[in-house]
Formats: sequence, C-alpha cells, structure tokens
Amino acid sequence: TTDVTQQPSSTGSEPAGMPTLRSNPFDPPDRLAELRRTGPVTRLRYPDGHLGWLVTGHAVARAILADQRFSARSELKRVPVARPSVAPFYGRPALPGWFLDMDPPDHTRLRRLLAGHFTVHRAEALTPRIERIVAERLDAMAAAGGPCDLVDAFALPIPSMVICELLGVPYAERAEFQRNSVTLFSLEVTADEADAAMAALDTLLRDLVRRPRQEPPGDLLGALSASGRLSEEELTGVGVLLLTAGHETVASMLGLGTFALLCHPEQLRLLHDGNVDVTNAVDELLRYLSIFHFGVPRTPLEDVEIGGVPIRAGESVTVSLPAANRDPARFTGPDTLDLARPARGHLAFGFGVHQCIGQNLARVQMRIAYPALLRRFPSLRLAVPTQDVHLSVDMGFYGVHHLPVTW
Ligand code: HEM
Repeated sequence: TTDVTQQPSSTGSEPAGMPTLRSNPFDPPDRLAELRRTGPVTRLRYPDGHLGWLVTGHAVARAILADQRFSARSELKRVPVARPSVAPFYGRPALPGWFLDMDPPDHTRLRRLLAGHFTVHRAEALTPRIERIVAERLDAMAAAGGPCDLVDAFALPIPSMVICELLGVPYAERAEFQRNSVTLFSLEVTADEADAAMAALDTLLRDLVRRPRQEPPGDLLGALSASGRLSEEELTGVGVLLLTAGHETVASMLGLGTFALLCHPEQLRLLHDGNVDVTNAVDELLRYLSIFHFGVPRTPLEDVEIGGVPIRAGESVTVSLPAANRDPARFTGPDTLDLARPARGHLAFGFGVHQCIGQNLARVQMRIAYPALLRRFPSLRLAVPTQDVHLSVDMGFYGVHHLPVTW
C-alpha cells in the first residue's frame, strides 16, 4: 500500500527526501512530526540520491550537537535540499575565518577571539543605541504613512544598521551586501552566482580590513585587527560571516515574527499590553518559528550509536531544528504559539560549540523591536490577505520576502 501522507517524491516505504511541504505558514511540514513519531532518527534521502539520517527528536538533536564526534567541517557537509549555491563552499576546507565550518581546535581559536565581543553584557550595552535605531525607523514609517513593506521599512534596516556599527562596515554599503547575502542563502542561484556574491563580499571586507584605523579602534574589525591574532584572510572571512549571518537572520525573525503575531491577535495583545515577559516571548517566537528550517548538517567522524540507531562514520546527518523545537516530549502543546510558556531550551540557535555566537545580540534587538512596533502602531495589521504574504521557502532560512502592513 502507498502511504498517502508521504511527500509526492516518495513511493511506499522508501526513505523520502527532506519534507518541505507546509500546510500553513508557521508550522513546519507535518511530515516531520510523522517521522518523529516513528523515532527520533530516521533515514533521509539527500538530493543527490545518497542515504543519510534525519534527526527530529529534541533530546537526540541536542545530544548530537553537543557531541564532538559529529563534525561540522565543510569538507564533510551535505545539504538535505537542492542548493547549488553551497557547491563552492562545501566538500572542501573551510574558507579562512569561517569557524562555522570548522571543528576544534581551529574553531576554538577563532571563537575564543570573538566570544568576548558577543557576551550578554556587550549586547545589553547596545540597548540605548538599538532603541534609537528602532525609534528612527518607526518615525520614518509614521512620517511616510501606511501601507508599507515592514521588511524594507523595519525588519531589514534595524539588524543591518546594528551589525554595520558593530563591525565598522559603512551602512551605505547595504544595498550591495544585502543583495549578496540573499544570493548566498538562496536555494535558486547557481554555484557561479554564489561564488561571485562571496567574492564581492570578500572585496568589501578586505578593503575595510586594510583601511587605516583610529586609535583605539571603535569597532570589532578594528579591535580584532589591532589584536594581531588573525591574518588578513581570516579577518576578512570573519567579517563576511558576521555581516551576512548578522543581518538576514534577525531580519527574518522580525518580519516572520510580526506576521505570526498579527495572525495570533491574543498573543499580540499580551505583548502589546506588557502582560508577558518579553525575554521569554522572544524565545517562544524563536522556538515556534525555527527559521533554520532545513536544520544543521553534521557528519560523525567515527561509528556511533545514538537514539538507538547505529550511524556509520562519514554518513550525512541533518539535525532538524524545527522538528526538535516542536517535540511534544520536550514542550507541552508544541504547536501552539504561547508567549507565556517556558520556552528556554529550544534549539533555534543550535547547541554545543557552534551555538549561535550572535544570540545575545539577536535577542536584544528582538526584545526592543517587537514591543516598540506594537506600541507605536496599536492598530498594525496586514495590508493584504494572509495567503498573499510571500514566504521565503526558497532560502536557507525561513521568513517573509515582504510584509505589507498598514495601521
Ligand atoms: C551559528 C541561528 C543571529 C552569527 C548559528 C547556528 C544557528 C544560528 C542555528 C548554529 C549553526 C550550526 O550549528 O551549524 C541564528 C538565528 C539568529 C541568528 C535564528 C537570529 C534570530 C545571528 C547574529 C549573528 C550570528 C545576529 C552575528 C552577529 C553566527 C555565527 C555562527 C552562528 C558566526 C557560527 C558559530 C560557530 O560556529 O561557533 N546561528 N543566528 N547569528 N551564528 Fe547565528
């Protein structure tokens, strides 16, 4: 018999590809939950036809991300959906400075040099500056009047300005670096287009790294440069990694998160009225939306047994963060957006040594931006029917391309 719940690409009991079909904008594909019910680790067919593993259970996902036998090296990384743009970067050694694609001790050396710049304390010290940036965006929206695209007017400029200031990248460069970041994260561009986008970002950062600096340096690239601990190549790579990861992700959360709140008016009201802890509310949105929708890739360097399943050295493993964050064994009523629930322990920022270095900075921006937006425009609403909001299913992480709103 044929299992009618399978994705169209699969037949019978054969392992299927990565589920991508969503029945609504906010829930991950139903198929992920069906797979999790059969076990926390199941077979997964990769786009090139080889068989690997998909992890959908929270406990196993967390264990794998904390387990140093699972490598994050780009040499071994395989993506679970067709994504030609990773071809220039995966299957070969990490680009200089790209510690996301390295294992300890290479990863450790770079991460340690940066960690002090991304502490809770450092992120919170940026509060007044972020509040000003948010207020300026809201003023500009009010002055122009609705309707507007919330992504263009609010979600994208805020994290772009914040990361530019932090790194020491002129905000005037935004059109180019935003376009090139989108290219790198797109599923639909060719390897050549991705290569060109990376080369352009590399040139932008290399020029900034070479530029003479004031003493003492007022920005992160200047401070790292002055430390003399990184080569020019590494400094450039770190700059590109932080610039790209630092704006698109938060922009995605601000756009998609606002869309989710507008579709859950009772939750929106809680946040608007200050009747919920905003720190927890932000973590619940991160959990519920889990924008790294295709998960994170890992490869065991030796044979391991995990979740009752033997995985052989070199096999591809995809840890599904959306599936783990909707695991009923970890979160009660996981498919409900509940800003008051204890949301800590979600894996939206990953876990283990690669857990997002920008998470404190991301949280501070979201804690300031959502309530300020709702307070400024209490009658904020979609300017188009829900089904006309274009979701970025065609990107490495999930979000909205545009969010037409009015008030
Ligand atoms: C790592 C998510 C914001 C920079 C990660 C990982 C996830 C993630 C899931 C782990 C990847 C893995 O294990 O392979 C997010 C989300 C964000 C966000 C959901 C926003 C809501 C940021 C920001 C920055 C940033 C603002 C920069 C300031 C990085 C870097 C890594 C990373 C450099 C690699 C860390 C390492 O390998 O040690 N992020 N991120 N991210 N993120 Fe974020």
